[in-house]
Amino acid sequence: MKKIALVSLLATSVLFAVAIVMNPQTASGSKKTNAGGPGTALPDSIHKIVQKACMDCHSDDGNFMAKGKINFSAWEKYDSEKQISKAGAMCKVLTKSSMPPKKWRANNPNDVPTQAEIDMVCKWAKGLQK
Ligand code: HEC
Repeated sequence: MKKIALVSLLATSVLFAVAIVMNPQTASGSKKTNAGGPGTALPDSIHKIVQKACMDCHSDDGNFMAKGKINFSAWEKYDSEKQISKAGAMCKVLTKSSMPPKKWRANNPNDVPTQAEIDMVCKWAKGLQK
């Protein structure tokens, strides 16, 4: 009887050890990735920029062509690979000033992203990659 108890105790500890090693979050500790994938919303600071400067076009209510490229209404449905690549594209178009489009800038001068906001988007995009 005593032997059985010991064996089952041993089996339970082995199971626990395996569970800890197999769990990627425990195993990688604080080096957990930021690129959450499905269910991960944009950080508030980024969402604020996107909402004022991008979602007129890049949203469910937006422009067909634009939302085909990026639809911020569907961001949380993107897998992490897609979120990373779209975030990189956001940094790129903002840095080149190709988005928001010229005509939109002319009509919404107060909502054009500032250099500080562009830097914030690029920093966030870079952070997603690791
Ligand atoms: C006035 C509407 C409008 C606004 C506002 C707008 N976009 Fe776009 N965007 C478009 C359209 C239309 C396309 C697709 C056609 C194209 O690629 O030029 C596009 C394409 C893109 C692409 C894909 C470009 C590529 O090279 O494939 C990215 C990335 C993008 N937009 C990011 C943004 C971001 C970030 C913002 C906000 C800072 C923004 N857009 C604001 C209309 C808009």
